[in-house]
Amino acid sequence: MKRIVTDQLDVTIDPTFSATLIQWQQQYGRHQLPWQKTRDAYRIWLSEIMLQQTQVATVIPYYQRFLQRFPTIFSLAEAPVDDVMAHWSGLGYYTRARNLHRCAQRIVADYGGQFPADVELLSDLPGIGPSTAAAITAFAYGTRAAILDGNVKRVFCRAFGVEGFPGATSVEKQLWQLAITLLPEQSIEAYTQGLMDLGATLCTRSRPRCHECPFASRCIAHNTQRVNELPMRKPKKAVPEKFTVMLVIEHDQHILLEQRPPTGIWGGLLSLPEVSRLMAASERPVSKEALHTELAEFGDVEAISVMPEFTHAFSHYKLTVAPLRVKMKRVFMMAAQANYQWLPVAKLKQAALPAPIKKLLVD
Ligand code: ADE
Repeated sequence: MKRIVTDQLDVTIDPTFSATLIQWQQQYGRHQLPWQKTRDAYRIWLSEIMLQQTQVATVIPYYQRFLQRFPTIFSLAEAPVDDVMAHWSGLGYYTRARNLHRCAQRIVADYGGQFPADVELLSDLPGIGPSTAAAITAFAYGTRAAILDGNVKRVFCRAFGVEGFPGATSVEKQLWQLAITLLPEQSIEAYTQGLMDLGATLCTRSRPRCHECPFASRCIAHNTQRVNELPMRKPKKAVPEKFTVMLVIEHDQHILLEQRPPTGIWGGLLSLPEVSRLMAASERPVSKEALHTELAEFGDVEAISVMPEFTHAFSHYKLTVAPLRVKMKRVFMMAAQANYQWLPVAKLKQAALPAPIKKLLVD
């Protein structure tokens, strides 16, 4: 056993990992995929780009139609982009198709139509990241290079008990280190395909088939009953909580409403006036003086009563609203400003109000 301890990583690597995976791939892996029958870098590149965000079964007919229309990198490079897009239509993530076309033109212009066998050079091309570059060089040229896509990250996180969210830079660094350390000296094609096959067929995100997995006995996630916890999910950001006091100002069977600014939350809708603009939840309660100063601008207060608070979840924060019902004896001109309007109580139901405000006023 090799123990790797660095500032990034502390795992014990079983030196037989790659041999076990290669053997498993040869016996149980996929061998009939259309792009496995070739060493042509153009075809392998095309399959890898199509497979980046799309499942094998969906890709196969697109891959075949695409190659009929664009059998060589030269035919692709000189085709109009619209023609390329038409053959991608339905696969989704269309940036891939635009990059594919640009990449073909670069390969023709800079490399005479020959894909370089160097991971660094490939990674520099449009749409080819380090993992795709490694897959292309491994499958087309037998180069010993490490892949690390989403499926492979999952396999490693589980097998080696890698903690943390794999999208986090520090965790990703650990995983790359692991991916490089695990590489076999030989049979890089079967090894690379084995990682992909294991991630796609057994070590799936939900309901993995651990009882069929060649690593079950040494898989840390499996042995510690944490298959459902690894890889760890993206940590949820704490949602800020904000607080506001809204005024339900009532006079003569009318409610005072204020039109919200055109952008931002509830943009352009009618809403209730607020005592002061949004504040952090920690800043509550609002002082009595602030309240009276604000109310004095609207008129002479007859009675104030507290209504039940409610919260509303926006995409970026949670808002707690403390509504105050304010009955006015007399109202001033302030409320005649352009962004204010007195709405008859009977018309609230049809008014352009945000749902939680309508609920407060109408229910
Ligand atoms: N996903 C990404 N590359 C793949 C490949 N070559 N075969 C199967 N699935 C893949």
